[in-house]
Amino acid sequence: MASRKKIPRDLCLDNTLKLLLEGYLFIPNRCQKYHYDIFQTRLLGQKAICMSGAEAAKVFYDNKRFTRTGAAPKRIQKTLFGEKGVQTLDGTAHMHRKQLFLSLMTPSRVEQLIKLTKNQWQINSKCWERKDHILLFDEVQLLLCQVACQWAGVPINKSEAKLRARDFGAMVDAFGAAGPRYWQGKCARKRSEQWIQTIIEAVRSNHLDVPKGTALYDITWHLDLNRNLLDTKVAAVELINILRPIVAIATYITFGALALKENPACIKRLQSKEDAYYSMFVQEVRRFFPFGPFVGARVRKDFIWRHFRFKEKTLVLLDLYGTNHDPRLWVLPNRFLPERFQYREDTPFDFIPQGGGEAQNGPRCPGEQITIEIMKVSMDFLANHLDYMVPVQDLSFSLVRMPTLPKSRFIMTKIKRK
Ligand code: HEM
Repeated sequence: MASRKKIPRDLCLDNTLKLLLEGYLFIPNRCQKYHYDIFQTRLLGQKAICMSGAEAAKVFYDNKRFTRTGAAPKRIQKTLFGEKGVQTLDGTAHMHRKQLFLSLMTPSRVEQLIKLTKNQWQINSKCWERKDHILLFDEVQLLLCQVACQWAGVPINKSEAKLRARDFGAMVDAFGAAGPRYWQGKCARKRSEQWIQTIIEAVRSNHLDVPKGTALYDITWHLDLNRNLLDTKVAAVELINILRPIVAIATYITFGALALKENPACIKRLQSKEDAYYSMFVQEVRRFFPFGPFVGARVRKDFIWRHFRFKEKTLVLLDLYGTNHDPRLWVLPNRFLPERFQYREDTPFDFIPQGGGEAQNGPRCPGEQITIEIMKVSMDFLANHLDYMVPVQDLSFSLVRMPTLPKSRFIMTKIKRK
């Protein structure tokens, strides 16, 4: 029998505060310190194992070894995820619910989403021409909220969309927060769930007609494994699991605008309309810029990996940001180089901004393709359909704050449609 080794320990009473103080670099800093891609520590009052890199991702996404049940802290469920949503399910219940999400991503539905996105850029940018300046992040959140609601069949007008976009943003903004930012996220979730529940109830009582094939229709009438409709609150959580992350793509689009500002050569390539370059550019935005820092799971049953013992129920965190900057996987990981994707063949474990493994049979994000497509259309609009100036402002972004963003939220002036 193979002898067991001890996982390097980052000794302290509890590292939760340090995690908040070091943000995206908490796991990478310690991997560097211990010259290893795994270490043990204490987080949220319990033992936790942190891992980074493709080999770690491969074991982390083995469903036989890990479960998501009991992994997400209550405070994340009260803000970002919602309670009893797909993220908290396991086994066949998870697969059944996941299928609901994946069935919304057919080619024709994705095409419709892209059409709506192009159209909304045209409409909203017309108003920007009359403004002295805009904050790109806030405007794109609003734009994507309008797109997401139309696509999902959720009725909304522009003034309401402003409130809802802010609320979806606040839920995402709360994930690494304590204090007021957390409370804002919690209130935003409560308000959003009440709003969406009223709409689902209206559909169920035939007071609102919604076309078959939209997320609102499919989620409202989805049957669980016992052939029961979802509880209205759970259905609202799942519909928000579609709307909120579409709005969150505003973060990547803002970082994309920053990448264009800092790498003018990229604008030229996007202006040449080379389709392949669009893919390379958006993949590099998703790799280079920080968004999801890590994901958590619990050990399903005792097992040994690399001679280390993983005990049942132990919390394990996989470092998404660090894996996307791992020098074993990426040449010059801290440089923005879209060309690195030209000949690259990713595995399901080495490029993981939206999780690893397969979306079909694991917790990987089901919205990756639509994220990429919305980003491509949006980068095309910024590079080819809009003239604008980027005045002097603080475009730096913190690696401590989770989630992060250019501090100025990307101010644009003198906007003109081409
Ligand atoms: C803004 C870009 C996005 C980022 C950074 C992101 C990131 C993630 C991450 C890190 C996970 C967890 C994966 C794991 O545990 O391994 C996840 C799961 C999920 N994402 Fe996304 N996502 C994005 C966009 C989307 C979109 C556009 C949708 C849907 C329209 C979506 C819906 C979901 C759902 C439903 C899950 C839970 C999947 C499950 O538990 O099986 N996400 N996402």
